[in-house]
Amino acid sequence: MRKIRYNLLEDGTSVQDVIDSVVARGPLDDPIHILDLDDVVRKHRNWRQQLPRVDPFYAVKCNDDPAILRTLVALGAGFDCASKGEIERMLKLGADPSRIIFAHTAKSMDSIAYAKRCGVDLMTFDGEVELEKIKQMHADSSLVLRIRYDSPDAQISLGKKFGCDPEHEAPQLLGYAKSLGLSVVGISFHIGSGNNDSGCFYGAIKCVRKLFEYASDIGYDLRLLDIGGGFPGEHDKPIDAYAKTINLALQRFFPMKSNVRVIAEPGRYYVSSAVTLIANVQSKRIIRNSQGSITDFMYYLNDGLFGSFDWYFPRQNPPVIIPGNRQLVRSQTERFPSTLWGPTCDSTDIICSGMMLEELQIGDFLVFDDMGAYGMTLATNFNGFAKPRVFVYISRTAWEQLKLDKCVRTGLKPLKRCVQ
Ligand SMILES: Cc1ncc(COP(=O)(O)O)c(C=O)c1O
Repeated sequence: MRKIRYNLLEDGTSVQDVIDSVVARGPLDDPIHILDLDDVVRKHRNWRQQLPRVDPFYAVKCNDDPAILRTLVALGAGFDCASKGEIERMLKLGADPSRIIFAHTAKSMDSIAYAKRCGVDLMTFDGEVELEKIKQMHADSSLVLRIRYDSPDAQISLGKKFGCDPEHEAPQLLGYAKSLGLSVVGISFHIGSGNNDSGCFYGAIKCVRKLFEYASDIGYDLRLLDIGGGFPGEHDKPIDAYAKTINLALQRFFPMKSNVRVIAEPGRYYVSSAVTLIANVQSKRIIRNSQGSITDFMYYLNDGLFGSFDWYFPRQNPPVIIPGNRQLVRSQTERFPSTLWGPTCDSTDIICSGMMLEELQIGDFLVFDDMGAYGMTLATNFNGFAKPRVFVYISRTAWEQLKLDKCVRTGLKPLKRCVQ
């Protein structure tokens, strides 16, 4: 695995200084991600403080940048892996197999066998056939039954694809697992990603309580509750309300004395706010109506939906705009309806339309915050356009505390400039 290169931020310097220094060097051909590892560390500490009973297993699919994963290993987090590839990656980065849950309910035979060879025993299921496959490939595994419990206010509902019905199917599946002699150790759910309803966790945890009782009736002693993901991660979206609901539900349905271990699989929460994208305007068209009045300014950026913008989360907040040519001081206050396009030849590659922006020029910088979740793992090189290059920053204090590894640079080093 390639060495991770960390850029150390000395005391008194911030990620904003990094952004200023990138911008000061002039427009770039390819987009850039500034990854702030201190933000990941802050998120972890906040989680621990707000949800002391819930052990986080970070969902690797959300952003698999090695610096993020390595930091989370150093912080002692667990990992939700969805494939053989993700498990392999985490083991190479030093994660202990006991800190991994294979949280995919439709696994390949080969990946189940691989998990067994590596000592990854905790895995989810939601159907009979999966149980039969697990019986054949990893009969000693510790199984977690995934039920369906959907938030009415989630951008991505996962229940359509995963999770059994808790009323009818779940008891039947527990019985079937018992008849196969398999060890079921817990229940999981995922209320949906991009969820805005913190209250939904209460009902889901209550629903799991009933299944714990049913399982006990048929001879299982369940010890694990996995509350999945679905927590917000943008810088202006705290998880306080989520923590309050979850802590209350745990106190009520799984009090400390029940000795039930509680884990979660947060993705967005850990990484959304850790990444800032610096993109540039590379082309522009001015659209006029038949009377000659301007109706739209169309800008073509060097990043888009086939790059690191999230398909599911249309961009609503305007980016920070910084003139590419610092000599041209613009005192413009007028705003115009504007469309931001990604660079590819596909017309679905549209970041936003109707956004009111000052008039932009070629080479201007657009700085987008909260770009850490799912964008990079879903990014492609469609049309030959580069994915953003990631530059990793961490404060010296955090670096020394975490003892990550030795490949470091200090200060703000030059980034490659584009030839315009
Ligand atoms: C099984 C599972 N766990 C966790 C997550 C992470 O969800 P989120 O990023 O909303 O926290 C996902 C996302 O799709 C998932 O499928």
